[in-house]
Amino acid sequence: MQSFCHSSNLKSALAQVRVEGKTVGFVPTMGNLHDAHLALVQLAQTHCDVVVTSIFVNRLQFGLNEDWDKYPRTLQQDSEKLRSIGCDYLFCPEDQEMYPNGMDEQTRVIVPSMSDILCGASRPGHFEGVTTVVTKLFGLVQPDAAVFGTKDYQQLAIITRMVEDLCMPVKIIRGDIVRENDGLAMSSRNTFITAEERPRANQLNRSLNWAAEQIREGKREYSEVEATAKMQIEKAGFKPDYFVVCDGQSLAPAVHDTENVVVLGAMYTQGARLIDNVVV
Ligand code: PAF
Repeated sequence: MQSFCHSSNLKSALAQVRVEGKTVGFVPTMGNLHDAHLALVQLAQTHCDVVVTSIFVNRLQFGLNEDWDKYPRTLQQDSEKLRSIGCDYLFCPEDQEMYPNGMDEQTRVIVPSMSDILCGASRPGHFEGVTTVVTKLFGLVQPDAAVFGTKDYQQLAIITRMVEDLCMPVKIIRGDIVRENDGLAMSSRNTFITAEERPRANQLNRSLNWAAEQIREGKREYSEVEATAKMQIEKAGFKPDYFVVCDGQSLAPAVHDTENVVVLGAMYTQGARLIDNVVV
């Protein structure tokens, strides 16, 4: 695996790859890689000839009170993990490389209707930071396909919409959620769950599965399902952020005849905010 901090070196390497007629797959990450990230890289390998993984803890998508400083940086271990599964290129730029004019001066990309709801409501500016950095990374890597995990369902839906709206020549591939044995979705933020909370931390997933089952059985009073699920989460000792039955593409609240239904949830533990979803 070749590693690059500077985009000019990455671009030269990828120019050669393209001369050879090979396709480029891309997996953007913020590092602290676990099995779910590695599964995304492996999925990219099944679609493309070479795979680039990026590691960049993007300050632009963190709010003022969020954990940019605390975000675990484990470049050495991440690099070994990527090498062990045969990733071809690692791109790990510094802030100066990604935001040479400073973050305040950075041109932004915004997907308006989908960015201020759900996670965007409790994390103002977050998705603007994501879509801006992903656009820049796409510009630098120019991938044929890019893989995003379904755990971050809203992020995936927003990026899919952005690619469509801006006619970006990138195929978006969805990676399945990878879960711990008890159903907890793998996430870098799981390291912030306390030992006392951990046995109950799968409650979000349990409530999502319960809600999906209700809907599959024909229940269409979605607000009742949402309210009961929130009570389940509270009873388990957590604070629900949101729990909603949505249209899987637009993320608008599902109505009686919505065909593509997804249930999305977020809850606070003492040290982390966890998100998860179930497609019905
Ligand atoms: O999902 C993430 O890790 C980040 O939001 C992403 C897509 C790498 C952009 O910084």
